[in-house]
Amino acid sequence: MVENQTPKAVCFPMLKGGFGKSTFVSTLGGILGKVRGHNTLVIDLDPAGHLSTGLGYYTRESSSATDLSDVLLGDEPLEAIVKNPGHGFDFIPSLNLDSVTDDLSKDSVLASDLKMKQEIVDKTLGDRYEYILFDVPGTRNKLTNNAVVAAPNAILPLMPKPEALNGLRETATRLVGPIRSQLGEFTILATVPNDLSARIDHQTSDRKLLEAMNTQESFAALLLAGRDGVDARSGTLPDDIDLETVLDEHIPPFARIRADEWDAIDAGEIDAPKPPIRHTAAIGKAYEQREPLPSYDPENPQLEHFGEIADIIERGRIIQ
Ligand SMILES: Nc1ncnc2c1ncn2[C@@H]1O[C@H](COP(=O)(O)OP(=O)(O)OP(=O)(O)O)[C@@H](O)[C@H]1O
Ligand SMILES: [Mg+2]
Repeated sequence: MVENQTPKAVCFPMLKGGFGKSTFVSTLGGILGKVRGHNTLVIDLDPAGHLSTGLGYYTRESSSATDLSDVLLGDEPLEAIVKNPGHGFDFIPSLNLDSVTDDLSKDSVLASDLKMKQEIVDKTLGDRYEYILFDVPGTRNKLTNNAVVAAPNAILPLMPKPEALNGLRETATRLVGPIRSQLGEFTILATVPNDLSARIDHQTSDRKLLEAMNTQESFAALLLAGRDGVDARSGTLPDDIDLETVLDEHIPPFARIRADEWDAIDAGEIDAPKPPIRHTAAIGKAYEQREPLPSYDPENPQLEHFGEIADIIERGRIIQ
């Protein structure tokens, strides 16, 4: 059990589809809620609703059904839309979200971006819920804005694909930077490599991702987007900021590979590690069975590492 836990709202706002946001949300919801017994609420804000489908919910009902609009902009209580999928956490499925976005857009810009914070997080976090997790779409809309304002703690999964760093750049410069400049504190709790499968002692895409994350100043600059003196677009850190410290604060220990380790790997002096999160067939099967991974396959070896991410959420920071 992690010491100094504080209730927290967490979002997964990568502006790029398919790196594992929904997988992380359902898996971490299961760990925080079912395995650790925290009162946890998971909210699917993606109109595509993959997370909802993966938990057995339909994403479209008649527009007369009570939905998020009625809670954010009307008088309906939260209870009217909260479901219990039976995996240790409460759940608000993706329902009629295109019309929710339209309804929010009718309000003034600032007021409409505060609704999720005011109507859900401020009313329940630290009281009814210890953790609230927001799954967001891979493109930006009103609900993404609401999520980052309501949940100023982010987990960013990255897959070893050519577009990964571009996805992070978009997220950092278009979302995180502006939010920090306008609203103040916004914490990236962790960036996490996901779906790894290859060796890292050869020039594989896994190696390229891990090496970029663990060595590049431009990667670190993106993580600090919007902070005083940081120009994320230029890719450089201010002189008084230490690259290794920034990386230590944003990469979980299981994926942190330092310069001397890369040298030792390349010299063949140590066996190349196989860092998590690994490609895991059970993740797809759990989805097909409409269950989060901790319910579908409680003994799955990758859950240990998702547990380390849950520790980071509980603690609010990484300890190397
Ligand atoms: N570690 C993993 N091992 C195997 N499959 C994975 C892993 N992580 C994610 N996947 C699969 O990759 C696909 C994309 O993952 P997921 O839906 O979680 O991403 P996403 O960021 O939420 O995407 P979108 O933006 O489209 O909602 C899914 O089919 C998921 O099952
Ligand atoms: Mg998703």
